[in-house]
Amino acid sequence: MNKIIAIENARIARCDADWQGQLDNYTILIQSGKILWFGESLQVPQKYIANIHQRVDMNHKIITPGFIDCHTHLVYGGHRASEYGQRLQGISYAEIAQNGGGILSTVKSTRASDVQTLFDSASLRLQHWLKSGFTTIEIKSGYGLDKKNELKMLQVIAYLDKKFPIRMSPTLLAAHTLPPEFKNRPDDYINWIIDDLIPDVVRLNLAKSVDVFCEKIGFSLSQSKKLLENARASGLQIKIHAEQLSDSKGAKMAAELGAQSADHLEYLDESAIKAMQKSQTVAVLLPVAYYFLRENHVPPIELLRQYQIPIAIASDSNPGSAPITSPLLTLNMASTFFKLTHVEVIKGVTLNAAKALKLDHLTGSIEIGKEADLAIWDINDLEELCYWIGNNPCYGRYVSGEFFKN
Ligand code: NIG
Ligand code: FE
Repeated sequence: MNKIIAIENARIARCDADWQGQLDNYTILIQSGKILWFGESLQVPQKYIANIHQRVDMNHKIITPGFIDCHTHLVYGGHRASEYGQRLQGISYAEIAQNGGGILSTVKSTRASDVQTLFDSASLRLQHWLKSGFTTIEIKSGYGLDKKNELKMLQVIAYLDKKFPIRMSPTLLAAHTLPPEFKNRPDDYINWIIDDLIPDVVRLNLAKSVDVFCEKIGFSLSQSKKLLENARASGLQIKIHAEQLSDSKGAKMAAELGAQSADHLEYLDESAIKAMQKSQTVAVLLPVAYYFLRENHVPPIELLRQYQIPIAIASDSNPGSAPITSPLLTLNMASTFFKLTHVEVIKGVTLNAAKALKLDHLTGSIEIGKEADLAIWDINDLEELCYWIGNNPCYGRYVSGEFFKN
């Protein structure tokens, strides 16, 4: 029998499907990177005890599943502080985009950055996720918008995956905005992504999902639909940025195609929620973009609850609408702005975030057989994970059974 690590005297928040609170005096046994057993410390089965080769006393620290950020744009060149300055003068995010700034200005700086520069700046940002209890992160492309630069971004994501102890879920977001080369030809651009880019991305195995920004300043409903249908036919998972600034009906369409998640959703309506319920599409809420764009349209939380749609919470970290480098702040914002309970929020960065990435068979909850992806917190109450503003009580993480102390 392979060696066993015993994490003892822990308080655990399982975050599985029917989880409600924390359990004290628990032991978690890890073997070959996976959760072998967990339960009350006094109940450890005799058959395992002889093979325990390491005991770790947690001293009643709280252990959750490793956190999962299921929506980020962490790789990009430059930043957009000057546009923030314009917004402070009263120009809106959409107006800046329509005037050729916004996402396109990050496209310029990302195209001008080489792989090393993009890797270095993303690595610095990623450190904050590693130090904040995250064991899985999704990162999107979407600031390259041509073959060379979209592949370059995805390559950087692959290098980050290799270098850092965090599970990575890469997403192709070439349909983020229209690049200058396709000005006034959005249909041609979508066709190019389908016919030319996706086959290379699949061949090189550089992305797991395809995403699209369905919005007046992004792509239309029919363009988004065409892209997602084809992406799905290429064997990729699909997701969508939808209903962020207006009700474009993107979430409903994506759910009908079996999307893994629909993200943002400030303007989501009930018929879309019904479609999401049918397809078990996860609602990914992004409170940091809501905050930073000073939105005042809250996603329909009560309806999402009523239809039992799994709700995930993500940082959306990006240079335009969410320049966040303190990922735990997302939890505070989700509870403050969206009035989610701490249980909903914590489930939103664990099990439901895993579902949004179709990784819930592997990670996202403390369950026997799953990877030993754990976050250890120096706190007394679980609520503290939502309560503190700008505090990081993370003591360390286990990623597939390997410990990383902060
Ligand atoms: O999720 N909505 C589109 N994409 C990002 C913003 C990207 C940017 O402004 O650079 C978002 O908010
Ligand atoms: Fe986003």
